[in-house]
Amino acid sequence: MYPDPRRRTLLLSAAAAGLGLVPAHGLLAQDLAEPAHLDVPYVPTPQEVVDRMLAMGKVGKNDVLYDLGCGDGRIVVTAARVHGARGTGIDLNPVRIAEAKQNAKNAGVTERTSFRVGDLFETDVSPATVVTLYLLPTINVKLRPRLWQQLKVGTRVVSHAFDMGPEWPAERKAEVEGRVIYQWTITEANKRALKA
Ligand SMILES: C[S@@+](CC[C@H](N)C(=O)[O-])C[C@H]1O[C@@H](n2cnc3c(N)ncnc32)[C@H](O)[C@@H]1O
Repeated sequence: MYPDPRRRTLLLSAAAAGLGLVPAHGLLAQDLAEPAHLDVPYVPTPQEVVDRMLAMGKVGKNDVLYDLGCGDGRIVVTAARVHGARGTGIDLNPVRIAEAKQNAKNAGVTERTSFRVGDLFETDVSPATVVTLYLLPTINVKLRPRLWQQLKVGTRVVSHAFDMGPEWPAERKAEVEGRVIYQWTITEANKRALKA
């Protein structure tokens, strides 16, 4: 389903140079080598699903959205372009971050967005008022205590396809194009559960 990573790196590096990504981002082709280990493979969220995720998260101009494992940045870029929010995208893969920066530039939202290479398990998410995820069930559950600990009460969490396990049932669920979307709000009860 996914091409051989070494071949993919070569192709992506060549494509990056050909597309002019190198001068645009000040990156050399070898800087775009994909990391050896990803917790989740890259599969982008369809735009219709992105739109519904942002609606479920009630994203507005005062929000700060974090997409953990942001891929090509489409969720952050849409939040900024359509809803006027500010947003940050984190991805372990520098190729994705280069794409996201270019997409933000194309959409004219560079000033309201930032993208950086990083591990979602090492990212401080405390500035967020909305967090979006398209990860895997085990990764969501592993991330849950960090979300409960770092996020402010009232912060919305929206996940494409995967829930957070039976200990944190979703507040709302929706289906778009055959994809399920889950939404939670951080509460005082989540904070208390951490101490129990
Ligand atoms: C399924 S894709 C989702 C992309 C984007 N959020 C979307 O919905 O279109 C998951 C992304 O997570 C990234 N990723 C995997 N493990 C990661 C980690 N430990 N820290 C940060 N990003 C990671 C992958 O590179 C990939 O771009």
